[in-house]
Amino acid sequence: MVFGMVALAWPLKPTQPRESRIKLMCLTLKGQPRDKTGLLGDAPARNRFMATNKKPGKWRKRTIAVRGGQVRSAFQETCEPLIFTAGYAYEAAEEAEARFKGESPGFQYSRISSPTVAMFEERMAQLEGAPIARATATGMAAVTAVFLAGLKTGDHVVSASALFGSCRYVLENVLPRFGITCTFVEGSDLDAWAAAMRPETKLLFVETPSNPTLAIVDIAAVAKIAESRGARLIVDNAFASPALQRPMEFGAHIVVHSSTKFIDGQGRALGGVILCQKDFLDENLNLFLRNTGPTISPFNAWLHLKSLETLELRMKQHCENALAIADFLGQQKKVTRVLYPFRPDHPQHNLARAQMDGGGGVVTFEVEGGKPAAFKLANALQLIDISNNLGDTKSLLTHPETTTHQKMTPEARAAAGVTSGLLRLSVGLEDTDDLCEDLEHALKVA
Ligand SMILES: Cc1ncc(COP(=O)(O)O)c(C=O)c1O
Repeated sequence: MVFGMVALAWPLKPTQPRESRIKLMCLTLKGQPRDKTGLLGDAPARNRFMATNKKPGKWRKRTIAVRGGQVRSAFQETCEPLIFTAGYAYEAAEEAEARFKGESPGFQYSRISSPTVAMFEERMAQLEGAPIARATATGMAAVTAVFLAGLKTGDHVVSASALFGSCRYVLENVLPRFGITCTFVEGSDLDAWAAAMRPETKLLFVETPSNPTLAIVDIAAVAKIAESRGARLIVDNAFASPALQRPMEFGAHIVVHSSTKFIDGQGRALGGVILCQKDFLDENLNLFLRNTGPTISPFNAWLHLKSLETLELRMKQHCENALAIADFLGQQKKVTRVLYPFRPDHPQHNLARAQMDGGGGVVTFEVEGGKPAAFKLANALQLIDISNNLGDTKSLLTHPETTTHQKMTPEARAAAGVTSGLLRLSVGLEDTDDLCEDLEHALKVA
């Protein structure tokens, strides 16, 4: 068999063998499409379907973001191809049988995997330093799939209480239907994590930074607690993105993403990613994903794959802008609290600096006067949009209590730190002087 693809391992975790589906994209010589057009020419067979990965294991993060996982077709396109197909043709019935047995590389059906999706997964795996990546239709599909695939009746989850509303819904309302329980703890209280562990605890869950209060959880410490009890720690890395934080470096066992956010970065397409070790894939995830089908569209995967190429540049600017806005808000009389992980007044500032490469693109703040003042401020904005999304080039303001966290009980909202005057600002890539002028004007009205 001849494979035209060389899988890369990002040197961060050289001990973790990567199980990449990208190799499935490589056609065997026997399986190479018949060249009816002559486009394949007389190039040596190995060059007909070469990937661009020429220095396996040697690339740095920024190069990986641009080139990791790329596989070129026989056309040698420079831009990763967007391949739309539901199914795949086999040269012979024996080949179909071998592919279903897992004995022959190649795709079977796009619910299971497809070329563009596999490229996105491979690039994400390399960026996160993870052995496995699987892309899903949304971030919530990723979160839900990990819980449903990883748990059974009688199991128990421990989760930080500062959570996005939908994550909390899954833990509080979906899992109990299957006899799975969850204990919520204050994420920064390591004793509370340890005390909540039970023999049947299988998964621990944190968002760090959390939505919307930007609480930071000590990934290494919580991973150790999980490990000591034979459980796995899941980190939702949507707010940081792999450009700012790679939880597996700190011992996280599973990472989930809403790639809808900073990975897409331009508010265009939904997507999610699960990153894990091979044992979780084999024992829990693989058959679950194949058979339940939370698959991402190749188009969305292609957008997110291409977006990864500019992720680090965008995140750098998001961080710079967000810090400037946070400092500006910190000087405003009507602002009673500013939360930004890289500001010294953030309660977990040192921890944030230890496990993140930047404070992120979101600033959360509280205005005097509760909901009426928050609404007045939002309605007075002339540049920043009111939206419940985040991670866009455009600055977006959210009132979590009445939108993203509305369906939570008042107690759960309080535990998550969501108050009536709290506003979450996803700081975009506009000029910060324009953003400050807009906020200054709106604060006068609030
Ligand atoms: C921390 C976090 N996790 C998961 C999600 C869900 O992602 P999606 O909207 O792509 O389903 C969100 C969405 O805002 C989020 O903020």
